[in-house]
Amino acid sequence: MIGPRCLAGALWRRAGGQSHVKLFLRGGSQLSSSPTQRCWRAAYSSDSAPSLPTDNTTPRTVEINGKTYTTDAWFNVSSTVLALTSRKLHLQKDHPVAITRKIVESVFPGPTYKYYNEFDPVVSTYENFDSLGFPPDHPGRARSDTYYINKDTLLRTHTSAHEAELFRARESGGYLISADVYRRDEVDRSHYPVFHQMEGARVWDRNQVPNGDLAAAIREDLARLPKHNVRVEDPNPPFHPERNPLQAEHHTPEEAAAVAAHLKHSLELMVNEIFSRAKAAAAKQSPVPSPEQQQETEPLRVRWVEAYFPFTSPSWELEVFYQGDWLEVLGCGVSKQELHINAGRPSQIGWAFGIGLERIAMLLFQIPDIRLFWSRDERFLRQFRGVEDDLARLRPFVPFSRHPACYKDVSFWLRGTSAAGGNDRKGVGAADWHANDLMEVVRDVAGDCVENVRLVDEFMHPKTGRRSLCYRINYRSLEKTLTNAETNEMHDRVVSALVERLGVEIR
Ligand code: PHE
Repeated sequence: MIGPRCLAGALWRRAGGQSHVKLFLRGGSQLSSSPTQRCWRAAYSSDSAPSLPTDNTTPRTVEINGKTYTTDAWFNVSSTVLALTSRKLHLQKDHPVAITRKIVESVFPGPTYKYYNEFDPVVSTYENFDSLGFPPDHPGRARSDTYYINKDTLLRTHTSAHEAELFRARESGGYLISADVYRRDEVDRSHYPVFHQMEGARVWDRNQVPNGDLAAAIREDLARLPKHNVRVEDPNPPFHPERNPLQAEHHTPEEAAAVAAHLKHSLELMVNEIFSRAKAAAAKQSPVPSPEQQQETEPLRVRWVEAYFPFTSPSWELEVFYQGDWLEVLGCGVSKQELHINAGRPSQIGWAFGIGLERIAMLLFQIPDIRLFWSRDERFLRQFRGVEDDLARLRPFVPFSRHPACYKDVSFWLRGTSAAGGNDRKGVGAADWHANDLMEVVRDVAGDCVENVRLVDEFMHPKTGRRSLCYRINYRSLEKTLTNAETNEMHDRVVSALVERLGVEIR
């Protein structure tokens, strides 16, 4: 497992589940205060977006993809992130994210599946959370984790935000949504505040199947799917009363089992398609197979793991055995019947899944750093030309030179009192501190020149109780060698912005 949000399903599990559960709703960042009259435009014209104002003000309005939104005290989107809302990498011809999307689409053909690739990233808090049954105190709603335009409007954190409207529209038996999604997060080679997801769903209508026999109709559809030779480990029963319950009020065990079987087989076909292509590409690059590659000629191994999402039950994650490790690739489950009922379609039943595209593209093309996806460097882009129309041309990415890294540390004191205790002094109190706020400042000032940011030391003053933190910022450009002077200048700007925006006291 690589990290908390590398892929669709890994974030926000039920409390008490996995190691990366986020248990507590944390305080938000302090990036916003009194509104000014300024308006930030998110139209992307150059690689260098203007940085956040250093005077801690919030623009009164922001424009995203041609629409204007009014901000409030919840606003916490940096202009760097706003600028990325217009990139739409999943729609850029021959971009590895777009190629990955095409491969997934090929496994879910029309007319059964309809593709939606143009949904706007700005959605309501209701669509992103409430419509899916996220409780009011769910940690995913925190301002430290989610980009808000205002209290009721945000940058979607997942493509599931569009499930309710598509269940209501019922334009086809199934759908795929591809879109950019946004999450405040750490800085490293597999995390970026914007990434792309694909959401898939399939529904059947009780009133439209022969004799009303849903389970039989679903099983017939399952029998029509292509076969595969994937080695599947699925040790758990289709549902479990405590761990992974059947929605007994709405579904018979036969119906839920049929939906689960159709879901699992469909997704096994999808990962088989992706990983066969990855293996074929690697084999073309080095025609004499290494011992690992020889092993890889064996059938793909996958396993189903029980999971939890507020909007599916039972739920699973699919893991794939790849290069000696089990990799979590997607989250899925039987859709909660409340979603169909609230969409005015009580007779519908079905499944849904979500998958992170960068994670898959990194495997498929052997792309080592997530920042590369945003690069406009020809040395990156030209390697994928022509692949979208001819997938047989898919080859692993050949890295261009790796430029030297240079790390710098920054140590600071957090303000001593909690935010509630002393409003007269600006800055983040220890109780409100969230590392994502620091990550956001670093990204905003130094952009893609930062490879990763790590906490290297933490200290509590024994007498005053003040907390001190030391972060190590690793500067490395993907495109050029940074000079010492450039790195120092950038680091100085990062340090000033931390003082200015988060109110920390440099040691
Ligand atoms: N939206 C979920 C996530 O981003 C993934 C998911 C989609 C899970 C659909 C189940 C069904 O984590």
